[in-house]
Amino acid sequence: MRILIHNNYQTLSTWTAHYIANEILEAQPTADRPFILGLPTGSSPIGTYVELVRLYNEKKISFKNVITFNMDEYVGVPEDHPQSYHYFMHHHLFKHIDIPRENINILDGNAPDLNAECLRYEEKIASVGGFTLFLGGIGPDGHIAFNEPGSSLSSRTRMKTLTYDTKVANSRFFNNDTSAVPKTALTVGVGTVMDARKVLIIINGYSKARALQKVVEEGVNHMWTVSMLQLHQQGIICCDEDATQELKVGTVRNLKDIENKTLKTLPVLKPE
Ligand code: GLP
Repeated sequence: MRILIHNNYQTLSTWTAHYIANEILEAQPTADRPFILGLPTGSSPIGTYVELVRLYNEKKISFKNVITFNMDEYVGVPEDHPQSYHYFMHHHLFKHIDIPRENINILDGNAPDLNAECLRYEEKIASVGGFTLFLGGIGPDGHIAFNEPGSSLSSRTRMKTLTYDTKVANSRFFNNDTSAVPKTALTVGVGTVMDARKVLIIINGYSKARALQKVVEEGVNHMWTVSMLQLHQQGIICCDEDATQELKVGTVRNLKDIENKTLKTLPVLKPE
């Protein structure tokens, strides 16, 4: 697991967007051999999406042969509701780029049979050959997607009940009313994410400092589901200085030393 400590949220976002763009360009995706990208919502990836849109506008990257699958969606929130993850993705990314509509996959939290919907999602991911790259974020309790503390570390896509912690954290999007936050969500499993060939998790801000400490300095534990990244062969955490607040001074120093060169340069964009 590589841990890249960026100076701030902007440098983290720029580096992450360049990394994703570079992975897509290097894969030289075609309609027959598309690039399969897992995507998160939340405030953490917004800066990355802004940079990806900029790279697209500068004609440095195309999403024509990219197929996306989002991590999660609330149950019972209409797709056109401003807090639905459908709305978020359209607003922050999809409407700005050239991804074909049929290449966008987001769990349907209003499906008549939610279990069947989760099964369908897993089957569709498998039918396109699994993820090339999964981009993710975490909650303050270290949850990845909506895999709340205590989730099975080999879980697949399913419905989860949101914890009180998550409802409090996400109430900022629902007029600070915890009771207005949906009680359940559909989410890919920890196992679904870990099957990706590469995984990049964004962990920024002081509110994520405790979770970063758990995943970096402690063991794999179902109470901090992102810690499963320790067992992934190609896992990267991109964090900012604020999120390192709970790490030991020596840990931070070593990590910065190891990744010194990477942190000083942006992944070079290969021409298409
Ligand atoms: C929600 C989502 C997660 C996301 C998390 C963090 O709980 N289910 O996928 O990573 O929020 O959101 P933020 O980036 O806004 O802190």
